[in-house]
Amino acid sequence: MAKVTFITNNNEAIVLEGTTGSVMALAVAHNVKGIDGDCGGVCSCATCHVHVKPEDMVKTGQASEIEMDMLELADNSNEYSRLCCRLELSDDLDGVVLTVAK
Ligand code: FES
Repeated sequence: MAKVTFITNNNEAIVLEGTTGSVMALAVAHNVKGIDGDCGGVCSCATCHVHVKPEDMVKTGQASEIEMDMLELADNSNEYSRLCCRLELSDDLDGVVLTVAK
């Protein structure tokens, strides 16, 4: 079980819990604004771009090479960027805070 907090572009904090599947799927299922998941989670659209709270990078890890390639094309990407379709829900992610990228 992981509790995930999304900070939307209007600074609303949305706290969701999930056990399996991707963080993107969890967000889309709960209509988190700004997480669209247009490609269905195959790392080819960047509509699931989030910024990880710096101290939570230990929970998420760094983006993979293929993810980095996609993030290079995304607006506002930085060293804390992840595509949340690449983040699988697990106990390791519990408490993570993700800001939806603009
Ligand atoms: S849903 Fe398309 S890259 Fe994550």
